[in-house]
Amino acid sequence: MKINQRKVLLVGDGAVGSSFAFSLLQNCQVDELVITDLKKDHVNGDVADLEDIIPLESNTKISAGEYSDAQDAAIVVITAGVPRKPGESRLDLVQKNYQILKSIVEPIVASGFQGCFVVSSNPVDILTTLTQKLSGFPKNKVIGTGTSLDTARLKVALAQKLNVAVNDINSYVLGEHGDSSFVNFEETTVLGRPLAELITLAETDKEELEQQVRSKGGYIIQNKGATFYGVARCLAQICQAILDNQNLVVPISAPLNGEYGLYDMYLGSPAIINNEGIAQVIATPLSQDELKKMKISATQLAAILEQI
Ligand code: 2OP
Repeated sequence: MKINQRKVLLVGDGAVGSSFAFSLLQNCQVDELVITDLKKDHVNGDVADLEDIIPLESNTKISAGEYSDAQDAAIVVITAGVPRKPGESRLDLVQKNYQILKSIVEPIVASGFQGCFVVSSNPVDILTTLTQKLSGFPKNKVIGTGTSLDTARLKVALAQKLNVAVNDINSYVLGEHGDSSFVNFEETTVLGRPLAELITLAETDKEELEQQVRSKGGYIIQNKGATFYGVARCLAQICQAILDNQNLVVPISAPLNGEYGLYDMYLGSPAIINNEGIAQVIATPLSQDELKKMKISATQLAAILEQI
């Protein structure tokens, strides 16, 4: 069956999935959005609610559906999974969410789906790696939100610290979307100039910024029970880069094949996204210390992948 280049299937209509749908419809020209979740009544209600923005947005056909609707979809977005509870790490979710992932990927592949998987379920680097292994899809067709959310959080924190506009900051958080993520200070620029030309950040300042980013998800969960707007917007940005063939550089959970000396896993790294999925993984220059941190992230995730 011919792929509809502007059809998206959303799997998981919880807070993240529903926020993603809302964001996608406001930022992208989508012909068809199909939503599936075990909670069928909830999906029917969400479809009815989302329909009401169509007159103000674009003429998208929104419907409740099944995994079989992936057959002619350009993108399958997977947000399904158990979210973290206060005090839990993302890695604590791996066994439960791997079982959920298996129950999704197998029927999606069986439908004849040939598009791109975009995954946000946590732990996202591990579940993106497992989505690729379970599906057998080319690695460039499987994308995780990775450290795109952490990078957004870093820009917010740096903008506040330096009193500049968020968009004047070009920086990446890399590695695990989790407690071993780190900031690529080596390549950070503000207003187009190296950060070090603007401000001398002591090691303690850098560690404080990294900890601020690592702990923000937990802070949000502690205070409002879940996080969803930030990761939903990252999902919509990645989907738009695919649908609109943007060649956009995004720090995603990317398939490493020698970058940073690492292989056979997905980890947070900048990559070019277009209608083929991942056009190129960009091995951004790292300091010796940053390369060490990347390898710590990789070692930690590899150890968990070995147990699965
Ligand atoms: C977060 O950090 C959902 O893991 C995501 O908010």
